[in-house]
Amino acid sequence: MSVGIDEISFYTSNYYFDLRTLAEVQNTDTEKYYQGIGQEKMGMAAPDEDVVTMAANAALPLVERVGTDAVSTLLFATETGIDQSKSAGIYVHRLLNLHENCRVVELKQACYSATAALQMACALVARQPEKKVLVIASDIARYDLDSPGEATQGCGAVAMLVTANPRLVEIEPEVGNYAEDVMDFWRPNYRTTALVDGKYSTKIYLKSLKKAWEHFREASSLAFNDFGHFCYHLPFGRMAQKAHQHLAKVNQAGLDADQVEAQIADTLHYNRTIGNSYTASMYIGLTSLLENCKHNLAGSRIGFFSYGSGCVAEFFSGKVVDGYEKHLHREAHSQMLQARTEVDYARYLELYRYPDPRDGSDNEIEAVTTGRFRLAAIRNHKREYIAV
Ligand code: HMG
Repeated sequence: MSVGIDEISFYTSNYYFDLRTLAEVQNTDTEKYYQGIGQEKMGMAAPDEDVVTMAANAALPLVERVGTDAVSTLLFATETGIDQSKSAGIYVHRLLNLHENCRVVELKQACYSATAALQMACALVARQPEKKVLVIASDIARYDLDSPGEATQGCGAVAMLVTANPRLVEIEPEVGNYAEDVMDFWRPNYRTTALVDGKYSTKIYLKSLKKAWEHFREASSLAFNDFGHFCYHLPFGRMAQKAHQHLAKVNQAGLDADQVEAQIADTLHYNRTIGNSYTASMYIGLTSLLENCKHNLAGSRIGFFSYGSGCVAEFFSGKVVDGYEKHLHREAHSQMLQARTEVDYARYLELYRYPDPRDGSDNEIEAVTTGRFRLAAIRNHKREYIAV
C-alpha cells in the first residue's frame, strides 16, 4: 500500500499588486524584481480575508468531492495565527461542515509546518488506511514597507487530501532532516510584520539544504539523478533556482545550466504571480509542476526541500502516480488567477494598512472578497466567519 497526496487545490486573494508598480514608486529597475528576485506579482488579501477564509476556499473542492463526513483529521499549518489558543482549523471545520468526530489541530514552525502536517497525515493513514486526512497550509506574508523583504510578500492557501493509494503523488517514507536555532526570520507576538536578516536567511536556507540532503542520502538509496523534478520552498523564485544550482553542484550532477533549470522551472509559475505564501508555497509549487509540465510526469520522482526559518528543514521524495493528470484542478486555478484584479499603489497601501484590531474593539468588516467565505466582523473578541 502507498500513502500520499490524493488531491490538491489552492487559493489566493482576488487582489494582486504588480512589482513593476513597486519598482516605479521606489525608483528601482523592475528587472531587479522580475529577474533578480524572480517575482512579478504579490497576492494582497482583502480586508475580509485571512488564513481561515483562504484555507476554506482552498479545501472546498476537495470536501465537495469526498463528502463532509469523509475527513477524519484536519491538520492546519500556518504562521499567520489569528489566536493564541484556538486553532484556525476549527473555524474551517465549521465553514466546511466537517464531521463532529473529525480531529483538528494547528501546527507551527515557520514555512516548514505544512511538511510536518503532511508527514503526520501519512503516518495516520499508514496506521488506518481507510482514513482521509485533510492538510491545509495558509499564510499571508508581510514585511515592513520599504524593506528589502517588501517585494517578497504574498498570500495563499493550499489544501491536500492525504489517503492510501493516492491518485497524485506517493510520498516515500525516507526523509532527511536538519534543525538549528538561528535568528534569520521571526515574528514576535506584538508584531504584524516579520523581522528578517535577509542575506543571512538565504545562506541558512542553502546550508540547511545541504545538511538535509546529506541526511536524506543516509536514509534513502535515491541519488540526485534519480529525480526528474525538484520542488523547493519558494520565498521567491530566484531562491529556488539558486538552491537547485547549489544541490546540482554539490552532487556533481553533470547537467548543464538549462537542464538544471528545467528540473524546477514548472514549479515556479504560480508562485511568481502570488508571492510568498510561507507554509503553502512549496505545495503551490507542486501544484504548478503537476498542472503545467508539458510532458507526462507519471512514474517520475520529485525531490522536495521544505524550509522553515528558525530553522527546520526536510528533504523527502515522492513518486507521481499514473493517471494523475485526470485529477487536477487546472482549469479552476487558471480561472481564479485570470480573474484577479490589479491594485494601484494607493490601494496597496490601504490594504497593507487595513486595521488588524488588537485592542479588542468591535469591527464590521466591509464585504470585498470574491471568495466563497469571508470574515464579516469581530465582535465581543470573536471572529465571525460566514459563507458568501
Ligand atoms: P535585496 O538585498 O534588496 O536584493 O533583497 P539584492 O540587492 O540582493 O538583489 C536581489 C538580486 O537581484 C541579486 O541577484 C541582484 O544582483 C539582482 P543575486 O546576486 O542574488 O543573484 N538584481 C538585478 N537583476 C536584474 N536586473 C537588475 C537588478 N538589480 C539587482 N536591475 C533579500 C533580497 C532576499 C534580502 C530580500 O528579498 C529579503 O529580505 N527577503 C525576505 C527573506 C527571504 O525571503 N529569505 C529567503 C530564505 S529564508 C526562507 O525562505 C523562509 C521564509 O519563507 C520565512 C519562513 O520560513 O517562514 C522567508
